[in-house]
Amino acid sequence: MGIPLIVDTDPGVDDAYALTLALSDPAVDVLAVTTVFGNVDIDITTANAGRVLSLLDRVDVPVGRGAGRPLVHPAPESAAAVHGTDGLGGRADDFGEPGAVVVRRALDVLVEALEASPEPVTVAAIGPLTNIALLLATRPDLAERIRRVVIMGGAVSVSGNVTPVAEFNLWSDPEAARRVLVEEDVPVTLVPLDLTHRCTVDEGWLDRLAVTGPIARVLTGSRDTYLHHYRQALGVSEIPLHDAVAVLEAVAPGAVTTTPLPLEIDTSTGPGRAAVLADRRRLRPNPPQHRAVDAALDADVDAVRAALLDRLSRAGTARG
Ligand code: BDR
Ligand code: CA
Repeated sequence: MGIPLIVDTDPGVDDAYALTLALSDPAVDVLAVTTVFGNVDIDITTANAGRVLSLLDRVDVPVGRGAGRPLVHPAPESAAAVHGTDGLGGRADDFGEPGAVVVRRALDVLVEALEASPEPVTVAAIGPLTNIALLLATRPDLAERIRRVVIMGGAVSVSGNVTPVAEFNLWSDPEAARRVLVEEDVPVTLVPLDLTHRCTVDEGWLDRLAVTGPIARVLTGSRDTYLHHYRQALGVSEIPLHDAVAVLEAVAPGAVTTTPLPLEIDTSTGPGRAAVLADRRRLRPNPPQHRAVDAALDADVDAVRAALLDRLSRAGTARG
């Protein structure tokens, strides 16, 4: 058996790359894909998860439809301006129809996958953390079946991407994020904007990937809206494949460099909402106020880019 993995996702252009990375790795056993609102609404993210599975010829993977809104406050807005109104850069149809995928309730699918796995499971959470918070709140006994949760989210020492301090996934449900990152005990690796914004790929990288096969061609075909957004946001013709960096760490542990940091998440409704506060004091309270999470603040970024290109190039040719 390969690395047992569950992907909780809100596809999303970079989520599609991340799912492809996980699902085309022979050393990884994707037990389930669960969906959450986020980049676009839950109907669309669920359909898009099905489309990616259909593109990869993996409609056998159990799919669970999860939360359609955050735990407490309504979601302020989606990221359709980044990912397109269809969530896949206006090219959702190119990915195929989600029709053959059987969709159940996310919590049922998560519980079933965790209970059935003979080994502890890695969970890659690459959207708002609502489903994971609900799972840990309703089935705390299953926490010990989780090897670690690899989360794409947060801005630790850099600007946010939705507000000056907040990153989109955490900002979409800060109460859920606080539950998972601060209150729970489950091991967490956090892959924040600090790193993902350094791992951007340029159009040459996308072109090199595009020629490797039909799956890569569909993935890279979804680039225009996303590229346009990041040209304005970052001032360069490059895109950060945030979620793919997190999934790379999930399937190739050690791909990024982590620092243990106790974190707090701002759940106020003021301008600091969803900010990550890292406790870097040399003298911390004893006992500590919070456990530490492994924050991926660094990596050999050229090696990350090369690993992503190499692995995505091997995605195969399920659709001709
Ligand atoms: C995160 O937000 C979403 O738009 C992306 O899919 C990624 O998960 C980046 O902030
Ligand atoms: Ca995402």
